[in-house]
Amino acid sequence: MKKILGTLALLIAAAGFLFWYRSTSDVKPLSQVLIVGTSADFPPFSFRSPEDDQIVGFDIDVIKEVAKRLSLEIEIQDKPFGTLIPQIELGQIHVIAAGMTPTPERAKRVHFTKSYLSGNPLLIVTKSSSDIQGLEDLKLKEVIVNTGYTAETYMTSLMSSMAIMELLRLPRVTDALTALEYDKADAFVTAAFTLQPYIKEGDTRFKVHVIPQTDEENALAISKHLPEEFVQKVQKALDDMEADGTLAALKKKWNVL
Ligand code: ARG
Repeated sequence: MKKILGTLALLIAAAGFLFWYRSTSDVKPLSQVLIVGTSADFPPFSFRSPEDDQIVGFDIDVIKEVAKRLSLEIEIQDKPFGTLIPQIELGQIHVIAAGMTPTPERAKRVHFTKSYLSGNPLLIVTKSSSDIQGLEDLKLKEVIVNTGYTAETYMTSLMSSMAIMELLRLPRVTDALTALEYDKADAFVTAAFTLQPYIKEGDTRFKVHVIPQTDEENALAISKHLPEEFVQKVQKALDDMEADGTLAALKKKWNVL
C-alpha cells in the first residue's frame, strides 16, 4: 500500500512538473523578433489592404516605427480581437497593436503604454429616418455593439441605469452596419474614427450623434511576461515619436487627426 501511495505521489509530482514546464516554456522569449498581435478588421487602425492583402493601418505603422527604433524585427499575427489579451497572457505574443483602448480591467492583464491617440468620441449611429438624438432616446431600443469592444462595456454599464432595451452583440463593424441597414436594430454605438472609413461623402443612409464625455483612445498593450525596462523603452520610443512629429505625420496619413 505504502509503495502504491509513494508511486502515486511521484506520478502526481511529475505531472505537476510537466504542467509547470509546459506552461512556462510556452512563453515566447523576446530576442530579435517582436511578435505583434493584431486583429486586421478595424480600419483605419489595423486592416488588410484591398490591393495586396497586407496588414496595414495607423497602429501597424506605429508599432513598426517603435520596433525600428528598438532595432527589432516584427512578426505580425492576425487574430480575432477577443483572443488577443488571452494570447498575450499565455506568452504567445509580445505586444498588441490593434486600436486597443486602455481600460482598468484590461490593465490587470497587460501593461499599457500611454495613449497615442485620443479625440475619438463614441457615436450613436442610426438610419437617417430615425428620430434618436442622444443616449436618453435609447430607452427600450435595440442597440448594436461589437463584441468585446469598449463600446460594449460602456453600453452594458448604462443598461441598468437607463433601462435601455437590448444589446445586440455582433463581431465586426461591417456586421453592425449591415444589421442597422436592414433594420435589425435601432442604433449602433461605435467610435468616430471607426465609422469614418465606412461612410463616404454624400452617404445619406446613416446619421450620427456624438456621446458627450467619451473618448476611445489607443495604446499599445505589452505582455506582463516582459521586463519593466522593455515597457519603458517602448514608451520612450513613443515619446520621441510624439516629440519629433512622427506621430502627427502618421495621424495625418491615416486621417485620424
Ligand atoms: N477600441 C476598441 C477597444 O479597445 C475597439 C478595438 C477593436 N480593434 C480591432 N482590431 N478589432 O475595445
